[in-house]
Amino acid sequence: MRGFIAGVVTVIVVGLICAYGLLQSGLIPANADAKPGGLELWAAGTSLNATLRTAAPKGPNPVALTDANLLEGVKLYGQNCALCHGTAAGEASASPIAKGLYPAPPQLASEGVEDDPEGASYWRIKHGVRLTGMPSWGGTLSDQQIWTLALFLKHMDKLPPGPQAAWKQVRN
Ligand code: HEC
Repeated sequence: MRGFIAGVVTVIVVGLICAYGLLQSGLIPANADAKPGGLELWAAGTSLNATLRTAAPKGPNPVALTDANLLEGVKLYGQNCALCHGTAAGEASASPIAKGLYPAPPQLASEGVEDDPEGASYWRIKHGVRLTGMPSWGGTLSDQQIWTLALFLKHMDKLPPGPQAAWKQVRN
């Protein structure tokens, strides 16, 4: 039994040393303009989805679906988000910052998040996404403002005329 445990410990220690050596070797790229590997994408996606599953609020959006709230959402988006996530022109409006970031921020008018639960959008906006360019806004926007943004994102592709006109005016 002791020999077995010593063997397991040796394998773990050797594995950790090899992993450390690999990181030190420079073979794993740290640049933002490389194509990410499948394992990296899988690990990041699995971790994010698991976090959203356990941590994102499940209930309905406490901010009511009104034209005034959607207008406020458009305004907050224009001030804080269009720089990275684009305008109503979608992909065509990607800024130089958006083009250079890795992982790339989705241009939300073309790669919409309307099918995401609003609680998931709320969580991403409030807490940000680790090791990506997505900042956490919990320190600068109120919960009310974050839910208002989530409301706008949910209805981005079917806005009533007033908010739609304001959305068309947003520039980045
Ligand atoms: C500095 C650039 C930057 C800014 C500013 C920014 N984001 Fe992001 N955002 C990102 C990046 C990069 C990602 C992709 C993260 C990933 O790969 O998981 C992202 C992801 C998201 C997602 C998830 C989209 C999806 O389904 O994949 C949402 C929703 C989002 N951001 C909302 C916002 C909102 C709302 C604001 C403004 C309050 C904002 N972001 C501001 C860079 C930014």
